[in-house]
Amino acid sequence: FGYLNYLVKRDRRFIADILINGLHRLEYRGYDSSGIAFDGDDVEGSDTKQSLKSRRACVVVRQKGKVEELEHVVRSLENIDWDAEFTVHVGIAHTRWATHGEPNAVNSHPQRSDEQNQFVCVHNGIITNYKDIKQYLTNKGYKFESETDTEVVVKLVKYLYDKHKNENISFQKLIEMACSQLEGAFALLFKSTHFPGELCATRRGSPMVIGVKCADQLATSHIPVMFSKDLFNHQNSKDSRNDIQLVETTSANLRGVFSPPLMITDQSASELAVTGNDRSIEYYFASDASAIIEHTNQVIFMEDDDLAVVKNGALTIHRTQHGEVTGQSAIREIHELKIELQQIMKGNYKYFMQKEIYEQPESVVNTMRGRVNFSAKKVVLGGIKDYINEIRRCRRLILIACGTSYHSAVATRQLLEELSELPVMVELASDFLDRSTPVFRDDVCIFVSQSGETADTILALRYCKQRGALIVGFTNTVGSSISRESHCGVHINAGPEIGVASTKAYTSQFLALVLFGLVLSEDSISKEPRRKAIIDGLQQLADLIKKVLECDKKIREYAEALYKESSLLVMGRGFNFATCLEGALKLKELTYMHSEGILAGELKHGPLAMVDHLMPIVMIVMDDPVKTKCMNAYSQVQARGGQPIIICNEDDEELIKLTSRHIAIPRTVDCLQGILCVVPMQLLSFHIAVLRGYDVDCPRNLAKSVTTA
Ligand code: G6P
Repeated sequence: FGYLNYLVKRDRRFIADILINGLHRLEYRGYDSSGIAFDGDDVEGSDTKQSLKSRRACVVVRQKGKVEELEHVVRSLENIDWDAEFTVHVGIAHTRWATHGEPNAVNSHPQRSDEQNQFVCVHNGIITNYKDIKQYLTNKGYKFESETDTEVVVKLVKYLYDKHKNENISFQKLIEMACSQLEGAFALLFKSTHFPGELCATRRGSPMVIGVKCADQLATSHIPVMFSKDLFNHQNSKDSRNDIQLVETTSANLRGVFSPPLMITDQSASELAVTGNDRSIEYYFASDASAIIEHTNQVIFMEDDDLAVVKNGALTIHRTQHGEVTGQSAIREIHELKIELQQIMKGNYKYFMQKEIYEQPESVVNTMRGRVNFSAKKVVLGGIKDYINEIRRCRRLILIACGTSYHSAVATRQLLEELSELPVMVELASDFLDRSTPVFRDDVCIFVSQSGETADTILALRYCKQRGALIVGFTNTVGSSISRESHCGVHINAGPEIGVASTKAYTSQFLALVLFGLVLSEDSISKEPRRKAIIDGLQQLADLIKKVLECDKKIREYAEALYKESSLLVMGRGFNFATCLEGALKLKELTYMHSEGILAGELKHGPLAMVDHLMPIVMIVMDDPVKTKCMNAYSQVQARGGQPIIICNEDDEELIKLTSRHIAIPRTVDCLQGILCVVPMQLLSFHIAVLRGYDVDCPRNLAKSVTTA
């Protein structure tokens, strides 16, 4: 997270609060340590060239643990004048999910170039060639204090600065030179005592969004847009760098509507450039828009190999020369974010996850809003409607995802096969790449991702795109890498999901894939009755989820009986095999218990050996075409002394009579039942984790969005 104010007077306390608050909003992405860098007092420059010039010091504070621990340390810092005011100031901050080096203060970010913090930077991602650069710099006499790959980046910048400082090198050029040496994935923010009031941001593979807030809102008739040089003169340009500059305009012949009087255009219009002349402006940089929304809803999504520089209050975006910039737009529009702060607050709930579980009656409606016409029994998915015929003609559908998103694909595979009559493959992104799976031009590859930023999924997407397949994205994040890099797609519209363990995004992904199946089968007359039955089921869905949520108290009682156990097996089959996988994943993520989702059909081929009178088991036995087979599994478990808790239909009297250990939920169409069945598993995992005293929203060792492959 970064914050820059220009010609807006802010005191240091305000700035520190903004930075720390930004970290709180991003904490769900990583929370093993955190840190901030802000301006200290003016000191005499140690730089020989500037030795008589005073330079502003940079204060770096880093702390192991959650953001509140950092906050505590920052607030108790001595000798800091919190009331000191700054008209121009740059602060950067970071909350970390460790990849290189254990979580401790020294390995936290900001990483620094030296003890005076001349250059500091925060980083998401992994620099894969850091060992080579480290060796190079070590040979030049540089000493490293941390075990991180990030420190190498900031020391490299310092090395380049020392090498070129007599040439009056700009901050932009320095960062550009440093980044040209980096391999791997990154989103980076830089601040320097040598370039006060300037901030550099760049990304390759990891997300970064810039929020823009102008103090003086001018007429809304101003219509801004961003052009890059290559739109105009790419052909004749020898220089592949395309500078984009923030300028003021009243021009109306441009696309994108944006109220503040800003646009980004080609430097040929440089006479219009805002170069700091009295424009009060604040910029927010974050890896996720949820940290920006409370300040401004005007955002720019950076793309790979963009280098954003703020200098004299003006934002310019430059294309760097490296990396493959395939099929990416050179236009950076200013988007207006639709989410509201309230959506990312806990409200009356104690935990985000709990709130998100309880939001499902609403989030499923949002997924269907404007898409399902219940009276005409018709579904329209605007984001893919132009591609439907191409999709129907494809060789096969390949669904690719990770974690919970993968489970939503497993959950809907059977229905997609039934409705589309196409072969449907469901793949884990990492394994798909490991196998170098053959992909063809007439394949349709569907990428399911809540965040739209999961590195494995993005890499698989690029792999498939290169092979000519049609790329369809199903994400919950507008403007995310997956939604931008797909040919077409569906936003699941579940609303921001903050709890690390996914809940409402799962049910909305599931639902969006069902809608996709319905659209694919639209021209089949023989499938009309089935389609109608499903659409009727969709209409009831929100109310039925509410009824499932009424079981919460009973589920908590089961949690009380189970929370001291060390293992819990979840069994089922057919449409609910995915529910077992997802239920077991929730248990693992939140309770750290051993848990396995077991296909009941496989029971006798191994898992039955684990069953005895002590083994805690949940079985999902719905009154659907596989019920008899599930009952066989139930008998096999019982015969070994197992006493499973059964999730069953509330009107299944036969089963309810058979055992008092059950969670009875409403009936819906077989292919939608998994949306209801997963809710008790979400609640069970939630309660067990709370009873065990664990942090439900931030499970240990995990991150919401894994932007490193
Ligand atoms: C991480 C999260 C999981 C999530 C998975 C895929 O592992 O902890 O909850 O299911 O990434 O994330 P995506 O954003 O692509 O759905």
